[in-house]
Amino acid sequence: MNRQFSFFVILILSLCSSLSAAKTTETYMDVNQMKRNAAQEALKYIPDNVTLGVGSGSTVNILIEELATVKHKINATVSSSKETTKRLKAAGFTVLDLNSVDEVNLYIDGSDAYNDLKQLTKGGGGALTQEKIVASASKEFICVVDETKQPSVLGTTFPIPIEVIPSARSLVAREIVKLGGQPKYREGFVTDNGNVILDVYNWEINEPISLEAQVNQITGVVCNGIFAARPANKIIVGTQDGVRLY
Ligand code: 5RP
Repeated sequence: MNRQFSFFVILILSLCSSLSAAKTTETYMDVNQMKRNAAQEALKYIPDNVTLGVGSGSTVNILIEELATVKHKINATVSSSKETTKRLKAAGFTVLDLNSVDEVNLYIDGSDAYNDLKQLTKGGGGALTQEKIVASASKEFICVVDETKQPSVLGTTFPIPIEVIPSARSLVAREIVKLGGQPKYREGFVTDNGNVILDVYNWEINEPISLEAQVNQITGVVCNGIFAARPANKIIVGTQDGVRLY
């Protein structure tokens, strides 16, 4: 009787665990499909003969796969990270140094958070400096996100990364505390430029343009993840059923 009971309990437990694994896979697939929906919509905005700036992150990785269908429109690309360069080259695209390009016609990148003014926060993957450089050099900036990201007060849903010269890490952290943030050193992470990242938590950013400029003034800061001085021109949100445009 006891053995039968144990067998029954084990059977129920393993059924529950299979159901929960299936649910996790389903959720994961849904988010990727939302990212793909956003990426596919972005393809419609790519003009002929484009020099295309390409961001970084999981949504952009899907975009790079999708770019194969509009390869004939793309003269060259400008990359925002070593990882993106590797993926673009593997997909057969020419990757140019920004210094050798007169103008980037369009930049497409993801974001960690955005607000109603299309101001963003970025750098979850640590590529914020090169991303901001390419965004600043681009005529148009399209941001692609999935619908798990909703418009919000910047800083409240995702920490703000700051790229810092390694020797200035503590100095910058103290200055950020004075500005009301809670900086945390991103352990074991080195940026493409050989620097470190401080992720700033619990920072409700009500004046993104002025805070972006203020943080840039701190000695030792290379770049910060507030993208407000140069916001996106368009945000494409991939949903379960299609896309929403801002
Ligand atoms: C990398 C970034 C990414 O664009 C941002 O983190 C969003 O990434 P994902 O598309 O994986 O959600 O800024 O530095």
